[in-house]
Parts: sequence; structure tokens; C-alpha cells
Amino acid sequence: MSRVINTMAFLKFSALLWCILVLIASLSHVEGSTRVELSTGYYYHTCPEAAQIVEDGVLLAVKSDTRMGASLLRLHFHDCFVNGCDGSVLLDDNATFTGEKTAFPNSGSLRGFEVVDLIKAKLEEACPGIVSCADILALASQYAVYHLGGPSWEVKLGRRDSLTANRTAANVFLPSPASNITTLTSNFAVQGLSFKDMVALSGAHTIGFARCTAFRSRIYNDVDINPPFKQYLQSICPRVGNDSVLQGMDLKTPSHFDNLYYKNLLVKKGLLHSDQEIYNSNKADPIVRKFSRSLTKFYKSFAKAMIKMGDISHLTGTQGEVRLHCRKAN
Ligand code: HEM
Ligand SMILES: *[C@@H]1O[C@H](CO)[C@@H](O)[C@H](O)[C@H]1NC(C)=O
Ligand SMILES: *[C@@H]1O[C@H](CO)[C@@H](O)[C@H](O)[C@H]1NC(C)=O
Ligand SMILES: *[C@@H]1O[C@H](CO)[C@@H](O)[C@H](O)[C@H]1NC(C)=O
Ligand SMILES: *[C@@H]1O[C@H](CO)[C@@H](O)[C@H](O)[C@H]1NC(C)=O
Repeated sequence: MSRVINTMAFLKFSALLWCILVLIASLSHVEGSTRVELSTGYYYHTCPEAAQIVEDGVLLAVKSDTRMGASLLRLHFHDCFVNGCDGSVLLDDNATFTGEKTAFPNSGSLRGFEVVDLIKAKLEEACPGIVSCADILALASQYAVYHLGGPSWEVKLGRRDSLTANRTAANVFLPSPASNITTLTSNFAVQGLSFKDMVALSGAHTIGFARCTAFRSRIYNDVDINPPFKQYLQSICPRVGNDSVLQGMDLKTPSHFDNLYYKNLLVKKGLLHSDQEIYNSNKADPIVRKFSRSLTKFYKSFAKAMIKMGDISHLTGTQGEVRLHCRKAN
């Protein structure tokens, strides 16, 4: 009898021990280098209407301002390149906090924050505290590209929002339009993105606009620029003043997600110095030519690179949070 009890006790004890071991193992797993696991079905049970709400928000915004599609795509890029896709770019400054909005590449240039707020409010109504701001940007980018005539891809979800932001990092990690090909390539390489990814992602400049300040140096200093094109740009963007005058990145169809961007590069009509840099390097030539000839190949590489960019993450396990308002940590 006592032997039976002893055996039972031993079994209970070993079961307990086993539970403890499993718990320790899973905790150390979380504390290790595990990335947030993203999946396309992340909100399938918790917020099945999430994607539809974001799509409706994007469509509504683009209907009244076509450029907004480009602006939303750029927000996701500027989010991901600074400490990963964690919504850090969306945090507002306040008395005790300075975020990324005033960093040089962002200041006076990023748009779309109100659109994100509207989408977030709808999501909080439908499923409170579930959908992260970082995921809103990833989804909104996809719908923006798609509804401007571009490719679609399955967006991986489950990102966590940061509690903070880093302006210095935004100045360090976001590429400048004055950059040469070496700097650009290393800017993307530190994010784990290849040269081909960089060329494909730069195709985002087939939509949207740039200010005179962003291309002034190109039109007054560069030699690898089409002369009539240069002349025209100089007429709208003087050496001094008119800083905010806008020029479509892709000259003819700035609200259509096509491959004209690459065709422009072939004839030295890249708007930014950085744009033309990717066709000045011999290494880039075949890829630019390939994308200029084949819309399908561009779309495929762009979608693939967007998924890769969306995977950039520094938050691990349960770090971060799902923000209730995208402009402020909870
Ligand atoms: C290769 C390095 C890149 C540089 C140096 C760069 C730089 C710039 C600059 C200077 C502007 C104009 C901003 C202004 O004048 O207000 C701009 C606009 C834009 N960028 Fe980039 N960019 C780069 C890559 C990317 C990538 C990877 C994406 C997205 C995947 C992207 C998406 C956009 C979009 C959509 C716009 C237009 C935004 C609007 O009209 O509101 N860019 N970029
Ligand atoms: C912010 O980013 C800069 C540049 O990457 C880094 O040196 C600094 O340590 C970061 N600050 C914080 C508080 O993480
Ligand atoms: C590219 O730009 C960097 C930073 O401004 C500079 O140090 C480097 O010498 C440049 N490289 C070339 C090949 O011009
Ligand atoms: C400023 O830009 C406008 C177009 O928006 C253009 O008509 C005007 O000539 C520009 N001014 C100068 C001094 O270039
Ligand atoms: C300022 O913003 C930061 C980041 O969103 C937040 O953590 C903090 O609570 C805010 N402070 C105030 C006083 O609102």
C-alpha cells in the first residue's frame, strides 16, 4: 500500500518537476533572441475585420487625396528602418519626450498621421486593444500600393508597438537623397536588405512627390541628368526659395504604381540624386533594366522586398505593447 502511495507521490513530483522545466524553458525562450512571430492570420480570431477596416480607411483617404497612398507607404518605410517596424515614427513629441517626427528626413515631409488615427479609432471600436499601429502601417502600405494599380501580397501581422522612439537613430538610419550608391547600399545592408531589395524598394518612387529642397542639389550640381528635364526643374525650383514646391517622383504618373520610375532612370530623369545613383553603378544596371522592361518582375521583387522590410523587428517576445492611440505610448 505504502509502496503504491510512494509511487503516486513520485509520479506527482516528477510531473511537477516536468512542468517547472517546461516553464523555465519557455521563459528563457522569450528572453532569448526570439523575434515577434509574424503571421498572415494573426488577427483571424481576435479581429477578423481588421484588414477590411484598414482597406476602407486607405480607400477613403486616397479618394480625397491620391498622394496619400504614397505618403502611407513612406510612413511604413520610415518606421521599419528605425529600430524595426514598431510604430515608433508615429509617436508625438511632448514636454518630456522627443520622438522621430522632427528628425531631418521626417520633419515637414511625412504625411498621413491623421489617416492612421482615423483607422486606429475604427479598429479600437471594433476590437479594442488588439491591432498594433505598426501593423496598421504594414497593411495600409499594401492597400495603398494595390489600389494605385500595384501588386498585392499577403501582409504578415503581429508586430508590437514601441514604448519609445529615437530621433538620433532616425537621422542615422534613414537614407538621404544626397547619398551615393555606397552609402545607400550599406544603409539597406544594415537592415538585412540586399542590393536587389534596395533597387526594388526604390521603385516606390513611382508614386508620390518630392519637395524642391530634396532635389535642388541634383538639378544644380549633377551632370548625369537629362538637360531639358533639368531645365524644367530649375524653372520651378530656384536656387533660393520655393523650397516646398512639389514635383512628382515619376514625372508622368505619380499616382500610378507602374515601372516608369526605372524607365526614367535609363534616360537620366531620376528626380533625386539617390534615385539616379542606383543606375550610375554598373552593379545596378542589369536590375534597373530588368525592372524597366518587365512590370511583372518588378512587382514580384517589390512584393518580396516589402515583406522582408516588414519583417525588420527589434522587439522580442512580449516587449512593447499594442498602443491605444498611435501618437502616444499607453
Ligand atoms: C533608397 C533610399 C531612399 C531615399 C534616399 C528616399 C528619399 C526620399 C525623399 C527625399 C522623398 C521626398 C520627401 C519630400 O521632399 O518631402 C521621398 C519620398 C517618397 N519615398 Fe523615398 N527614399 C528612399 C527609399 C524609399 C523606399 C524604400 C520607399 C518605400 C518602400 C520610399 C517611399 C517613398 C514615397 C512613397 C515617397 C513619396 C511620399 C509622398 O508623396 O508623400 N522611399 N523619398
Ligand atoms: C538612439 O540611437 C542612437 C543611434 O543609433 C544610439 O547611439 C543611441 O544609443 C540610441 N539611444 C537610445 C536611448 O537607445
Ligand atoms: C560616398 O559618401 C560617403 C559619405 O558621404 C563618403 O565617405 C564616400 O567617400 C563616398 N563614396 C564615393 C565612392 O564617392
Ligand atoms: C515657384 O514655383 C512656382 C510653381 O509652383 C513657379 O510658377 C514659380 O516660377 C517659382 N518661382 C521661382 C522664383 O522659380
Ligand atoms: C510623452 O510621450 C511619451 C511617448 O509617447 C509617453 O510615454 C509619455 O507618457 C508622454 N508624456 C506625457 C506627459 O503625456
